[in-house]
Amino acid sequence: MAEAARATRAKAGPAIHKGLVGLVVDNSAISRVNPETNSLTYYGYPVQDLARHCTFEEVAYLLANGELPSRAQLSRFRRAERALREIDRDHVGVIARFSRAAHPMDTLRTAVSYLGTREVAWGGEKPATDKRRAMALLAKIPTVMATDYRFRDAKRRIRPRDDLSFSENFCYMCFGRKPAPEVARALDTSLILYAEHGFNASTFAARVVASTLSDIYSAVTAAIGALKGPLHGGANEAVMHMLGEIGTPARAEAWIRGAIERKRLIMGFGHRVYRTGDSRVPTMNKCLEDLSAWKGDDRWLRITQTLARVVIAEKGIHPNLDFPSGPAYDLMGFDIDLFTPIFVMSRITGWSAHYLEQIADNRLIRPLSAYTGPPQRKVRPLARR
Ligand code: ACO
Repeated sequence: MAEAARATRAKAGPAIHKGLVGLVVDNSAISRVNPETNSLTYYGYPVQDLARHCTFEEVAYLLANGELPSRAQLSRFRRAERALREIDRDHVGVIARFSRAAHPMDTLRTAVSYLGTREVAWGGEKPATDKRRAMALLAKIPTVMATDYRFRDAKRRIRPRDDLSFSENFCYMCFGRKPAPEVARALDTSLILYAEHGFNASTFAARVVASTLSDIYSAVTAAIGALKGPLHGGANEAVMHMLGEIGTPARAEAWIRGAIERKRLIMGFGHRVYRTGDSRVPTMNKCLEDLSAWKGDDRWLRITQTLARVVIAEKGIHPNLDFPSGPAYDLMGFDIDLFTPIFVMSRITGWSAHYLEQIADNRLIRPLSAYTGPPQRKVRPLARR
């Protein structure tokens, strides 16, 4: 259905902006998503250039401070992040009690919320306090995820190291060894690409919570819940399930043509803002190619290439970042249900920046709805109903 028609679907009432399509609801200096030039910039820097020249820590600094760091600033930032990686015994105990069957997005959402119970956090605190909390969230989320990952496998937890980069340390805590440089670099690149993306659903959820002057833990907990859905961050897991269902490159073309015929929603394709392709995809495709060559396994690469070719040709819909990142995470050795939590590990930087930006120039976010229920009527007491 055309977007104009969607906007005016209500018969005689006000225009309905279902899904807030096309609405500009506030200013933001953090990132620019430009569908006309098919580009994404963080504080003015093209994301492809950041992926080429920077580490994830530099980009995390950029999103926290609005500028890329000098050597000395980066070194202080790294030290601060590394010093906060460990979680305390009580927190480990909470994670140990989660059901082994729980999805890691649910355990992560709960563990992040639990962090907010370790101090009085009501909202309205000074920005410096929220910046400290944002740093703690950045540092501790990978530890929470790796701890939960190990416990689910009935393995002992591996404590964080302070001599490893953000990406290396996460792999180390999951697998007990430093990752190959190819894996560390690809993971870092994906974290840079995932870090920030304007008023996407999870960021907007965080800003809605922030706009009530609630605390950052509540905002991030809400954002994690929003990210989990398969139309948003959950798509990278859904992509991998789809690739698993297809199985082999030989089956890919027939499978995708059948899916298009059955009008199936094809995970990892389409985007609310980009119409001619997601600006992050070429960089992530290159990571997928490099990882496939490194592993000597091009099964996922060949399937994704066939799917992209057919869907673009038949439907004019392009892959989004979740399409190459799903199989890339699989080649890095992560279980499928860790893919969306890895997205959290990165997007926490964007959410925190938006939380602070919303609080700095706040107005309660409170849209209207057009009422479609029964007309006003009298309440009949229970005895007469
Ligand atoms: N597969 C099949 N058809 C699609 C797809 C898809 N992945 N995406 C869009 N379309 C179709 C729609 O059915 C619609 O067709 P219609 O006009 O005949 O009804 C048309 O393209 C326009 O799509 P909308 O649904 O209006 O696009 P919207 O902006 O509302 O949704 C969304 C965007 C949710 C991302 C959608 O493309 C989708 O569901 N994609 C699959 C899930 C996915 O990959 N999500 C990840 C998003 S990126 C991220 O979070 C990092």
